[in-house]
Amino acid sequence: MIVNKEDLLEAARAFVKDELGHDSSGHDYWHAHRVSELAGRIAAIESADVFVCRLTGLLHDIADEKLNESEEAGLQKVEYLLKHHMVDDKTINVVLEIIQTMSFKGGGMPPVRTLEGKIVQDADRLDAIGAIGIARAFAYSGKAGQLIHDPEIKPREHIEKENYRKGKNTAINHFYEKLLKLKDMMNTKTARDLAEKRHRFMCEFLEHFYDEWEMK
Ligand code: ADP
Ligand code: NI
Repeated sequence: MIVNKEDLLEAARAFVKDELGHDSSGHDYWHAHRVSELAGRIAAIESADVFVCRLTGLLHDIADEKLNESEEAGLQKVEYLLKHHMVDDKTINVVLEIIQTMSFKGGGMPPVRTLEGKIVQDADRLDAIGAIGIARAFAYSGKAGQLIHDPEIKPREHIEKENYRKGKNTAINHFYEKLLKLKDMMNTKTARDLAEKRHRFMCEFLEHFYDEWEMK
């Protein structure tokens, strides 16, 4: 690779700010920044490619169908950016493959193949749990027009990809349908360790939430 890595990371930051800077559903630039930094840190510990992890962390949500016209359009933009910065084809393919395969959407997606992909996926999942994860779930929920909590709407046990974003739901149910499951879905030991504290905090949060709901 003959590219200047710092220049490319800077360009990727500007690109993501431009694309997602104003997103108020928890997928804004700072989410990308946190995933990038966290992925870089995990990569250093797990002896993976720190640069690929940081770069893909920044770009990972660009092709998300709820944030872009389509997955293809998002992937094309990423490819264009990387080509413009003279990134070699092999690295471009690695980055694009990670972006395509890492999303949750009810599970059942092809597994992420590379260690770098596993790490960016872990970093994205870590940013969905803990204090920040709680904040993001309520931000997403409000933006999607969901209630905070409704005891009459029960969490769903199994969610198919096409139903993942359909149906009436609440922010609290999202904890049971996804967020509380994430700690056991981490790919790397480093992420599993980091997930513990964040997971515990979500459990405590839910306990307090129900205590207050029941006016205990
Ligand atoms: P992915 O990580 O594959 O992009 P999502 O876009 O579904 O997965 O989730 C990203 C963030 O949006 C998570 O932090 C999650 O809490 C929030 N989110 C997604 N769906 C919901 C939902 N139905 N209710 C509350 N928060 C949600
Ligand atoms: Ni993300």
